[in-house]
Amino acid sequence: KRRPASCLCVTGDGLQIQCYQCEGVNYDCSTPEFIVNCTVNVQDMCQKEVLVKPDGTHYRKSCASSSACLITSSGYQQFCTGRLNSVCISCCSTPLCNGVKKKRPVPSAAAASGRALLFLTPPMLLHLT
Ligand SMILES: *[C@@H]1O[C@H](CO)[C@@H](O)[C@H](O)[C@H]1NC(C)=O
Repeated sequence: KRRPASCLCVTGDGLQIQCYQCEGVNYDCSTPEFIVNCTVNVQDMCQKEVLVKPDGTHYRKSCASSSACLITSSGYQQFCTGRLNSVCISCCSTPLCNGVKKKRPVPSAAAASGRALLFLTPPMLLHLT
């Protein structure tokens, strides 16, 4: 018997959501192995932190209480610049809402990271040297 991938579970004690929980470097961990059950009635939101550091983008995800998450995210608002050393913290309250943003990747961002080279075929690399 298969369980649904996510649930907004109503237990005997109250409402429970599920969130992704992880710490990842250069990896927006949003796969089933990172799903956790949040504490019933206490952790009613999913939190996502995105830190842009010299060695790459760090992702930190967890369950959170709405009050803690909202205070933290508003406190970090001024650091959410998208530039190096920026920190963006977001809160959301639907199951697994701290997964990957459904947005198409920006080609210029991929090229800037240097990882775009991985997608070049050997003949194309020859032209670069
Ligand atoms: C989360 O809770 C559900 C329902 O209580 C349970 O079936 C599932 O195994 C739990 N998942 C984890 C990762 O603890």
